[in-house]
Amino acid sequence: MGRQRGGPVIELRNCSKRYPSQLGQAAVDALEGVDLTIRPEEFVCLLGPSGCGKTTLLKAIAGLVSLDEGEVYIDGDLVTGPGPDRAMVFQDFALLPWADVVTNVAFGLELRGVPKATREKKAFELVQAVGLAGFDHHFPRQLSGGMQQRVGLARALAVDPQILLMDEPFGALDALTRRLLQEDLLTLLDRRRKTVVFVTHSMDEAVRLGDRVVLMTPRPGQVRDIVEVGLPRPRPPDLEKHPRFAELLEYLWQQLREMRP
Ligand SMILES: Nc1ncnc2c1ncn2[C@@H]1O[C@H](COP(=O)(O)OP(=O)(O)OP(=O)(O)O)[C@@H](O)[C@H]1O
Ligand SMILES: [Mg+2]
Repeated sequence: MGRQRGGPVIELRNCSKRYPSQLGQAAVDALEGVDLTIRPEEFVCLLGPSGCGKTTLLKAIAGLVSLDEGEVYIDGDLVTGPGPDRAMVFQDFALLPWADVVTNVAFGLELRGVPKATREKKAFELVQAVGLAGFDHHFPRQLSGGMQQRVGLARALAVDPQILLMDEPFGALDALTRRLLQEDLLTLLDRRRKTVVFVTHSMDEAVRLGDRVVLMTPRPGQVRDIVEVGLPRPRPPDLEKHPRFAELLEYLWQQLREMRP
């Protein structure tokens, strides 16, 4: 709140995606007629049951899947593939196992032809920023899950994308680690102007992090409801004591329960 808005607008217009049938299996309608406008520098959480098309929607914004119908626009430009304005953070971290932390963080910069000294300096700074000082030359297998996801986050931030796409980034972590990473993510974003699309299964996480929560229906994924969170920013450490917090969780839970198959 009170921040100047200047990032890109993401617009999904009537987006549908069907995965064709394979080896006798039926085709899957993953998304159907999704319309959604994400505001500049907004933090939007996508919440919905497993298999409702959240990852597909995120990949459509990333330019990693082709749609059967509809389009995604970023600042009015049609998305036709991945681009330097977008970076993704994955649930399973997707780090390079043979590369150390600095090399992993610098990977996107290397792909962009940034000279070694420059990219390592930038990577080193980000390793500090995500709380991994001293682990620059560790390998992913030597890190805990939470630490590996900090590397994933640093790698995405290294290319300084305008849009951060996060697919259940904290889903594999224990509750304590998850809370710490949520707090650290908000702190990191305070100083960086980005539009964030964050997929989660957790109502609690969606409300803690988001400006709006987009509730999706079970397959085929459609937008069922969009909820304005309206909680103060920066989010206070005792957010759960805010009456609006309980109210939102209750509302989301009712909606999700009604969608139960
Ligand atoms: N590459 C693919 N080929 C065929 N079907 C797919 C493919 N990717 C996803 N699907 C199907 O599309 C539907 C939506 O998948 P998607 O991964 O987008 O859901 P999701 O909401 O992210 O689920 P989860 O919460 O479990 O991660 C699922 O039924 C899935 O089986
Ligand atoms: Mg998914």
